[in-house]
Amino acid sequence: MALVLLVALLCGVADFTRSLSIINPEQMIEKAKGETAYLPCKFTLSPEDQGPLDIEWLLSPADNQKPDQVIILYSGDKVYVDYYQDLKGRVHFISNDITSGDASINVTNLQLSDVGIYQCKVKKAPGVSSKKVQLTVLVKPTGTRCSIDGSEEIGNDFKLKCEPKEGSLPLQYEWQKLSDSQKMPDSWLPEMTSPVISVKNATTELSGTYSCTVRNRVGSDQCLLRLDVVPPSNRAGTIAGAIIGTLLALVLIGCIVFCCHKKRREEKYEKEVHHDIREDVPPPKSRTSTARSYIGSNHSSLGSMSPSNMEGYSKTQYNQVPSEDFERAPQSPTLPPAKFMPTYKTDEITVV
Ligand SMILES: *[C@@H]1O[C@H](CO)[C@@H](O)[C@H](O)[C@H]1NC(C)=O
Ligand SMILES: *[C@@H]1O[C@H](CO)[C@@H](O)[C@H](O)[C@H]1NC(C)=O
Repeated sequence: MALVLLVALLCGVADFTRSLSIINPEQMIEKAKGETAYLPCKFTLSPEDQGPLDIEWLLSPADNQKPDQVIILYSGDKVYVDYYQDLKGRVHFISNDITSGDASINVTNLQLSDVGIYQCKVKKAPGVSSKKVQLTVLVKPTGTRCSIDGSEEIGNDFKLKCEPKEGSLPLQYEWQKLSDSQKMPDSWLPEMTSPVISVKNATTELSGTYSCTVRNRVGSDQCLLRLDVVPPSNRAGTIAGAIIGTLLALVLIGCIVFCCHKKRREEKYEKEVHHDIREDVPPPKSRTSTARSYIGSNHSSLGSMSPSNMEGYSKTQYNQVPSEDFERAPQSPTLPPAKFMPTYKTDEITVV
C-alpha cells in the first residue's frame, strides 16, 4: 500500500507539468460472477484546470465485434446512466462529490458479459486524462460432486472423481483424508492435486472419509466422499439385498396396480383373474417360491389388462410356473424347504 502511494506520488511529481492526472493503482481486476467490481478513477486537478468538469466511462467489450460503449456520464453537474442496456441499473459513481476528485464506479451483480476494458476519461479544460482498467469476471466453482467410478472391493481398481458443475479455469484440486490418521495413502500422493485419483489393488486401509476441494482465483467448493473397501462377497451381499428390496417393492407396486385394475373390471373378467391367481400360487412351500409366484401374478395382471389375449396368457402361465419350479428343484436337493432364502440370494447374484 505504502509502495503504491509512493509510486503514485512519484508519478504525480513526474507529471507535474501536466495539469489533470488520474491515479489508478490497478489495471486488472478479477471478480466472481454476481459480485460487485470497484473500478477506481481518482484524479487530481491543477489550478489551471478551469473549464467545466466532464467525466465519461467507456467500455470496450471483450467481444471485439461490439464498438466502445458509453456506460455512465458526468456532465454539467449531473449524472447520466443507462446508455448501455447490458449494464442497465448496475453502474454507479461511488462518490457523492465527484468534483472532489473521485470518479470511481461500482458495477454490481457482475455478469460474464461484463468482461472488457473500462476506460475513465476526465476532462476539465485545459486538463484532460484517461485511464484503462481491465475487468475479468470468473465463475466460482459450484455444485462439486465426489463419486467413485468402479466397485470398491478389495483388490479392485477404481477411480475417485471430483467434478464441479461449473467454475472458471484454471481449477485447482486438493484431496484430503478426514478420518483416521488423516494421512493420504502414499500411492495417492502424486494425484492429490488431480480431479481423478486412480486406485489400484484396493485394500481395506483405504476406507475412510475424503474431501475434495476445488479452487479457482475467485472461490472454492468442496465435496465429501465415503469410501468402504469391502471383500467382494460382502459387496455382492449388499447388491443382492438391494435387489431383493427392489423386487419386493416391485411386487408391492404390482399388487397395488392389480388391485386398482381388479376393482374396475367387469364381473366376468374378475372371476377369471381370481382363477388365474389361484393357479399361479403353488402350495406354500417356501419364501422363495412365494416371492416368485407373486411376480408371476404381477405379470399376469399386466397381461390381462387387454382382455383379448387373456385366455391364452393364463394358459401359458399355468404351464410355465410349475416347470420353472421343477427345473430349480434339482439345484438344491439337499436343502430343506425352510432354508430356501440363501438359494434365492445366490440366484440373484447370478442375475447380476
Ligand atoms: C463498491 O463496491 C465495493 C466492493 O467492491 C464495496 O465495498 C463498496 O461499498 C461499494 N460502494 C458503493 C458506494 O456501493
Ligand atoms: C495386491 O495387494 C496384495 C496385498 O496388498 C498383494 O499380495 C498382491 O500381490 C497385489 N496384487 C497386485 C496385482 O498388485
